[in-house]
Amino acid sequence: MSVTPTPADKFTFGLWTVGWQAKDAFGDATREPLDSVRSVKELAALGAYGVTFHDDDLFPFASDDAARQGYIDRFKKALEETGMKVPMATTNLFTHPVFKDGAFTSNDRDIRRFALRKTMRNIDLAAELGAEIYVAWGGREGAESDAAKDGYVALDRFREAFNVLGQYVTDKGYNIKFALEPKPNEPRGDIFLPTVGHALAFINSLDRPEMYGVNPEVGHEQMAGLNFVHGIAQALWHKKLFHIDLNGQHGVKFDQDLVFGHGDLKSAFFLVELLERYNYSGPKHFDYKPARTEDDKGVWESARANMRTYLMLKERATAYRNDPRVIAAMKESNIPELAVPTLAAGETWKDLAKDSFDVDAAAVRGYGYEKLDQLALEHLMGEKA
Ligand code: GCO
Ligand code: MN
Ligand code: MN
Repeated sequence: MSVTPTPADKFTFGLWTVGWQAKDAFGDATREPLDSVRSVKELAALGAYGVTFHDDDLFPFASDDAARQGYIDRFKKALEETGMKVPMATTNLFTHPVFKDGAFTSNDRDIRRFALRKTMRNIDLAAELGAEIYVAWGGREGAESDAAKDGYVALDRFREAFNVLGQYVTDKGYNIKFALEPKPNEPRGDIFLPTVGHALAFINSLDRPEMYGVNPEVGHEQMAGLNFVHGIAQALWHKKLFHIDLNGQHGVKFDQDLVFGHGDLKSAFFLVELLERYNYSGPKHFDYKPARTEDDKGVWESARANMRTYLMLKERATAYRNDPRVIAAMKESNIPELAVPTLAAGETWKDLAKDSFDVDAAAVRGYGYEKLDQLALEHLMGEKA
């Protein structure tokens, strides 16, 4: 198996990732602005499948129609020349000061209406470029204080916004589905729909729940102290994993947006193992930030690193799954038995009374997970049997 990426691997990058100028809360930009055309070309040369964007990544917020079209035309030309795709697009509802109190859940009704117009306009562009997923990350949808916002009514407004957008896409006949991206905090003190679980529950309240799924990001669940692999398993189980943001994070702290695998590597290993085993077929989207220390060369080095890491993990996860020692250890650990329904076909709760069961014997058994865990680690580290 090769760890050189090709478009068949379906790796995608946000224009805002490689294009991040590394301005943070404490320091100025350390890199020059990056032209979207150059990003498309560099990423294509590295073997990526496509790029994604916020409206404001492609043309400045205040662009008039002619300027906006100029930026779009150049971008489209680069896509045509390289064969790069745009499978996803999204709206920037967080940078401009008008969104300081949120967009769809701003306390200001006119701002909510403006946010919907901004989103619909970019959905038109997304459809034109062939995107089938529209991501919604509510970065400013939240508050610093519970005095500031009615968290119950805010969900009414959030639901209203998604219902309006679902109606818009339906009326326009676009082949687009929405992917909600949870995050617990940052930039707001607390953000609404903070985790995958919250988002999945919310989706059931929408008028057309089938049009909405999730776009979980590795670091965001880990910022909440949650197990990302479990979150993804649940999203897959609900058939709601419409998109995924891969990156790295070291535990509960600010959003690091590290290169994929450069945070919790073991979790990344089991994540890739899960995605591949359940045939996740959507784009593998890297939403990371090249470290502030890097120059232009480091940016492309980091882009390549994301893809190579995924492919190395895929290779090792496949070897792990097929290793006869692992298969035997899994059997010993009863792992295949979890797939066997607890009641046999035709049984009801009444049949449970018929069991003869030795509680003490069952209580003393060991599960052998330490052995299995170490086998995973040895595969991950390339230790040959
Ligand atoms: C983050 C977010 C953002 C969003 C992106 C899409 O790291 O806080 O992931 O990167 O994914 O802006 O709106
Ligand atoms: Mn993030
Ligand atoms: Mn993201």
